[in-house]
Amino acid sequence: MAVRIKVNGEERSFDGDAVTPLLDVLRDSFFLTGAKDVCREGFCGACMVHVDGVPVNSCLTPVGLVDAKSVLTIEGLGDGGELVPLQRALEEGDAVQCGMCFPGIVMSLTNLLAQQPLATRDDIKRGLCGNVCRCTGYERIVDAALRLAGNERRANV
Ligand code: FES
Ligand code: FES
Repeated sequence: MAVRIKVNGEERSFDGDAVTPLLDVLRDSFFLTGAKDVCREGFCGACMVHVDGVPVNSCLTPVGLVDAKSVLTIEGLGDGGELVPLQRALEEGDAVQCGMCFPGIVMSLTNLLAQQPLATRDDIKRGLCGNVCRCTGYERIVDAALRLAGNERRANV
């Protein structure tokens, strides 16, 4: 089956088994290795991408289900190779340890902060409930996202 997907704004196609996980198509056919292959069971969120704006675990998403849809991966964030404010906040907050979970965490937080730019600490924790950080650096991650939400909050006063 030929599957057509808009990936990070570019039309791509995959000719193969429709049940191939989207994660494998992104990594092995399109060479977009930002989404990480970790548990492959929908448990850790390291493979998270957005499909038509909704975060999904790409390891559990058959590529046939994203035919004619838009996929955003971590590589598609930002403009011209610049980090987006969220990535800068995580870097400045020294939140990244081994980094394995980070593509998924950034995609989850991107969605959360788009929906709730003034997110509270509890909102951010809830927004990350599908992402496991084995380095257990959650507090710095949450602090960095909260600083960003706090900036929005101040800008809205
Ligand atoms: S690799 Fe997909 S949820 Fe863990
Ligand atoms: S930084 Fe290592 S798994 Fe999260």
